[in-house]
Amino acid sequence: MSFLHAVRGISEERAPIWLMRQAGRYLPEYREIKARSSFLEMTRSPDIAAEITLQPLRRFPLDAAIIFSDIMTPLEALGIEIAFTPGPSIAQPLRSRAQIEALAQRDEVAPFVGAALRIVRAALAREVGLIGFGGSPLTLAAYLIEGGGSKEYEHFRQFLRSEPAALHLLLDKLTELTIVYLRMQVAAGADAIQLFDSWAGLHDERTYREFGLPYYQRIMTALADSGAARMYFALGASHLMDAIAEIPAEVVSVDWRTSLTAARARLPGRALQGNLDPAALYADRAALKAEAERVLSTGLGGAHIFNLGHGIWPSTPLDAVAQLVETVHDYKRT
Ligand code: CP3
Repeated sequence: MSFLHAVRGISEERAPIWLMRQAGRYLPEYREIKARSSFLEMTRSPDIAAEITLQPLRRFPLDAAIIFSDIMTPLEALGIEIAFTPGPSIAQPLRSRAQIEALAQRDEVAPFVGAALRIVRAALAREVGLIGFGGSPLTLAAYLIEGGGSKEYEHFRQFLRSEPAALHLLLDKLTELTIVYLRMQVAAGADAIQLFDSWAGLHDERTYREFGLPYYQRIMTALADSGAARMYFALGASHLMDAIAEIPAEVVSVDWRTSLTAARARLPGRALQGNLDPAALYADRAALKAEAERVLSTGLGGAHIFNLGHGIWPSTPLDAVAQLVETVHDYKRT
């Protein structure tokens, strides 16, 4: 059940497991720190960020740690002011070409994330994977143009249609920033990096191929010689699988609505990650076990890293998480 083997496509008898958003609000020890500090303080302090990263590993025998930070964290190096309420909120949403032209890297990109990764690396057993991450340029642009989270992203999608060249300029700048940011995380000890494309599903395949795919190919190609495994996660993206297959990434994360069996057929040779419905952690013990084993069986036929199909919910019962980890580790794939 080695995460480090699975990301390299080595299929083993036991699947490794980690959980998206495993460092966060469902843990009482996280909420205790949050009661004393703001989210920005927590991400900017390497000691606090390292502590929060390690919290889920102390409680559960997970096979990888993901660094505590946010997809919006590196954007401050472009001079963009972000608040968390608790989702990201942009004081001055980007709504004009002039605002995008004015963006330039002013500061070193989130050096505190590198410092936190070094602390975590030193504290982790060698066989436990360490994951760094960033947001995809198209998902970051959605937040920056909309000004925050939204159901339809009307401002963003209007801008994409009315100012496509300006959006490409923004995506280009975000791509360059992301390359610097992810390479820095690998240099600081990340074994794998995940590109989170949480809003990929807003787009049809044509739009995704124009505004998403080329930038993701650039980012992943820039990491090809970094030594880290490259992982890509898109939400609500079953209609985009053929385009996703063109991203050079060792691992593709799949949300709960796409079966791993279907994804395996479209992504031959890739390690797959996922994809238990986060709501399944609220089922009774027998139903949770059955559902986790069903996911495990769909993951056969290649390397599989067990995960949720999206982030763990803040009200998730802790005993369900413990049971899930045990079920995955007990399951024999051969
Ligand atoms: O996985 C982990 O445990 C590491 C930490 C992590 C956070 N955000 C911490 C966080 C990771 C990997 C992220 C990624 C992230 N952030 C994504 C991509 C993954 C996804 O869920 O789709 C997105 C879209 C964001 C943007 C964001 N940041 C949102 C929507 C929110 C608020 C609501 C929520 O989902 O938690 C945040 C704030 C945030 N980022 C919190 C945490 C622990 C909550 C802060 C608090 O305690 O108030």
